[in-house]
Amino acid sequence: MATKAPVNTRPAPTNSSPSRAVTAAGHNGVSPEIRAPKNPREVQPFNHLRMAPIGLAREARAESCRLLNEILADTTILYALYKKHHWLVAGPTFYQLHLLFDKHAEEQAELIDHIAERVQSLGGIAVGDPRHAAELTSIPRPPDGAEEVTGMLDRLLDAHELIIGRVREAITRTEENEDRGTNDLLMGDVLRTHELQVWFISSHLVDVPIVAAD
Ligand SMILES: [Fe+2]
Repeated sequence: MATKAPVNTRPAPTNSSPSRAVTAAGHNGVSPEIRAPKNPREVQPFNHLRMAPIGLAREARAESCRLLNEILADTTILYALYKKHHWLVAGPTFYQLHLLFDKHAEEQAELIDHIAERVQSLGGIAVGDPRHAAELTSIPRPPDGAEEVTGMLDRLLDAHELIIGRVREAITRTEENEDRGTNDLLMGDVLRTHELQVWFISSHLVDVPIVAAD
């Protein structure tokens, strides 16, 4: 028995794209209700690696993800610290510090993106929720109120130094594991950004009078 050839019932595309009009307005002029599942399934738990065919041993990828996530959590907190200080700073150096803190926050935000995407490239799960970052970080929580300026600067330097210590350790481990991509990110982007920012922040703590006395 001969089979019938399938019949194409789809209308030929036109320039006016009627199917798009239907999607936007919905049938009978009612917006379509698109709902996500109530309890979406977790398809990859945190700390579980998925396949990443990049020629790097699973153990090396796992260690890099762990180290990067620690740095990512701390960087998320440092970013928030910079924004807090950007908003709360006051005094004779208000304007320059207000701008500097925001510039550093933006640079830290870029690092957050690079580090998180490196974790994903390695097959891991990047720390994304700030509450998760708060659980993992070792940076002490500041008071909810405003601190004096020198306290803000000290707090930022302490946070930088803590992260730099973690970054140096991760540079050593990724070198030993031959994870060149992570090693390059940590040295070329993360470490150098932190060292430069530390220079800018610490230079405000040098004991130089604003007006020289006779
Ligand atoms: Fe601002």
